[in-house]
Amino acid sequence: MSKVHVMDHPLIQHKMSYIRDEKTGTKEFRELVDEVGMLMAYEVTRDLSLEDVEVDTPVTRTTAKRLSGKKLGIVPILRAGLGMQEGILKLIPSARVGHIGLYRDPETLEAIEYYAKFPGDIEERDMFVIDPMLATGASAVEAITAVKKRGATKVRFICLIAAPEGVEVLKEAHPDVDIYIAALDEKLNEKSYIVPGLGDAGDRLFGTK
Ligand code: URA
Repeated sequence: MSKVHVMDHPLIQHKMSYIRDEKTGTKEFRELVDEVGMLMAYEVTRDLSLEDVEVDTPVTRTTAKRLSGKKLGIVPILRAGLGMQEGILKLIPSARVGHIGLYRDPETLEAIEYYAKFPGDIEERDMFVIDPMLATGASAVEAITAVKKRGATKVRFICLIAAPEGVEVLKEAHPDVDIYIAALDEKLNEKSYIVPGLGDAGDRLFGTK
């Protein structure tokens, strides 16, 4: 079953308080989302494997540790996922970046793929699918299905805020995918906004309405 990791590090909680605040403007909101993305990448990569390397320090030869070269990839879900992309890449700059765009069919309410581009060697990479908000779970489920369909075998999902409803939907659809969350909120409202949440993540990142 999926593991759910709530990353309640004090720095993340502090920054989340400003991200939630409706008085926080676009520039600051974008910077904060970038910073929390970076802090989350630090925690999400905690289990990457290491190998021994020999290093000559100015004093002596020693054995040190380096990442054993496991390839990584990130897939921001357009468009709000882009807000976390750069922060994550600051810590794992050699990760390849795929993108997926989804829209909700107004009739069926299903998430439909309108754009997808992934690294050619996706099956060799640990993939991190990114979206700031895990609300109903429909986009996350569809994006992860798309990534797996292209050959990915190890996928994790990273978001800033999740509703319990979305977490359940995602766990049910993809029980092999671990979920990393900065804050687990109370519920969804009748318009599928997360409560208390932060409003519309895309609008707040890009200054649209
Ligand atoms: N998407 C958002 O941007 N905000 C929500 O609260 C739910 C989905």
